[in-house]
Amino acid sequence: MDVQDMGQDLEKVLLSKEQIDTRLTEMAAEIDADYAGRELLLVGVLRGAVMVMADLSRKIHLPIEMDWMAVSSYGSGTKSSGVVRILKDLDTDLHGRDVLIVEDIIDSGLTLSWLLANLRSRGPASVEIATLLRKPEAAKVAVDVRYVGFDIAPEFVVGYGLDYAERYRHLPFVGTLAPHVYGG
Ligand code: XMP
Ligand code: MG
Repeated sequence: MDVQDMGQDLEKVLLSKEQIDTRLTEMAAEIDADYAGRELLLVGVLRGAVMVMADLSRKIHLPIEMDWMAVSSYGSGTKSSGVVRILKDLDTDLHGRDVLIVEDIIDSGLTLSWLLANLRSRGPASVEIATLLRKPEAAKVAVDVRYVGFDIAPEFVVGYGLDYAERYRHLPFVGTLAPHVYGG
């Protein structure tokens, strides 16, 4: 899927494929340096983090393992409540592991602070977070995010794993939707 397939649905491209690629290369280099000599467990949060995981992991030179979690946060479609339910748990024992959570976007930060506490209770050596996108509200919460791709404005974005009603995840860029898509 690309710009031409969006018809009138695309409002604007916020981050191009090239911008995302360049930033992920930088983040991977930082991760390689920070964890030199260690072996990482990357934990992807389904489903939005699939693209970030695929591209970021392939830029990391250290040995890694990958595992996945699916969580749902209760609340309305666009606001998260901080009450989280595990839909799919990890298959990996975290004892003594260096864990890096890979996320697509942090908005209120509530989902992630819950996840962080949950994973930290499982005896890992360390737990850090890498996210492609962060909205301003998240910067206010006490979630320490080690690797941030881009700080973006508080508008709803799609593409590169992010959906609106499960659509647009396979856009290679991050963009915003025209108001009529939301029924406006
Ligand atoms: P928190 O708990 O940080 O929740 O508020 C983060 C989750 O909210 C979703 N989210 C978005 N999804 N475009 C999306 O497609 C957005 O702009 C957006 N903002 C937040 C997403 O599921 C994320 O994991
Ligand atoms: Mg998500």
